[in-house]
Amino acid sequence: MTMRTAARGPDFGDRRYELAFPGATDLTYPYLAELVTGRLLNNVGDPFQHGHGHNHTKDAEVQVVRWLGDLFDAGPDVWGYVTSGATEGTLHAVDEAATAHPDVTVYASAAAHYSIAKAARLVRAPLVRVATDEHDRMSLDDLRERLLADTGRAAMIVATVGTTEREAVDDVAGIAGLCDDLRITRRRIHVDAALAGVPRALLSDGAKPGFGFDAGATSLVVSGHKFLSTLTPCAVILYPRRPSVQDQEQIPYIGSADTTISGSRSGHTPLLLAASLLGQGRDGHRRRAQRSRDLAAYAHGALRRIGWPTRRLPDAFTITLAQPDLLPRPWVLGGDERTGRIICMPGVDRAWIDELVADLDARLHGRIHIPVPRHDSHGARPERAAT
Ligand SMILES: Cc1ncc(COP(=O)(O)O)c(C=O)c1O
Repeated sequence: MTMRTAARGPDFGDRRYELAFPGATDLTYPYLAELVTGRLLNNVGDPFQHGHGHNHTKDAEVQVVRWLGDLFDAGPDVWGYVTSGATEGTLHAVDEAATAHPDVTVYASAAAHYSIAKAARLVRAPLVRVATDEHDRMSLDDLRERLLADTGRAAMIVATVGTTEREAVDDVAGIAGLCDDLRITRRRIHVDAALAGVPRALLSDGAKPGFGFDAGATSLVVSGHKFLSTLTPCAVILYPRRPSVQDQEQIPYIGSADTTISGSRSGHTPLLLAASLLGQGRDGHRRRAQRSRDLAAYAHGALRRIGWPTRRLPDAFTITLAQPDLLPRPWVLGGDERTGRIICMPGVDRAWIDELVADLDARLHGRIHIPVPRHDSHGARPERAAT
């Protein structure tokens, strides 16, 4: 990272313009500053085995695993750990499936996160892409055809709860039912709930989609730096019981089993997760989620009122919108040339939405003029100017 000037510190940009990526920023933990910046804390090895050292936070890690295990109905024998991110969690689950069933095929929808392809590649398992329906959910009809085309092999189906682009939620109970119908017993159903697992699980009973262990999941990952506002990347991988295939042998050097993908692991992220989960409790997180949903509905309505093309799936924090060309302020809307997105995570302010909508409205009605940038002979771009 380049420091701009020693006096001003690094330039992290203005949070208000970063609406495309789902990092909540409303919860902060100043009381943890001394521990997080002043202590080496390394949760090396299995979180349920303390190991030789004392400079770890495995008790907090186990609390986090149990808290989330309860939320997703994992039962009393829940096992899991705090990973570096959802990618590592999914890799752990795909590796578990491939170790138990070396002939496994990985299935994921066309809307699944790019990390699934990486996990399949790392364990040398074939990846089959399943089509999506009009709401970006995995098509069960297409999944049936793909499974039938590959009968006899074990199946690892990765369902997504909150796809990266539109926050679609795959039908985990439907996937499990389909596997039962097709008598696929050598199977895993991993739920990539990185983005929307916690807020969707906190919906009221009538509105809550079934995607936890009671619905047929065999493993599930949720992110810490998305909804839970840990402010540094991390995630939690969960299983209803300790997977038996990962190496259970005690490693003398660390005094615990090597059941995780990473060796040394952050002891700080379990503290941040515990502070978020226990500090807010289910009620606090439910209120945060509802505020985000309300803001997403507000943003969607405001865009529609000015006539800007936009879409939002039910209960989503995510809105997709027609990608604007140049705007007077440096909005980051992600996506591609046609479609951008706004994700109303906790920490996004309604005033920022108003500012964006005003800029889009002005663009739509030709009230702003931004000269098309010209390249000079050295290829440098002149500053953009708004009038
Ligand atoms: C649905 C989904 N899965 C997985 C990931 C990967 O998470 P990470 O970058 O923490 O590995 C993301 C991140 O954007 C995501 O949205």
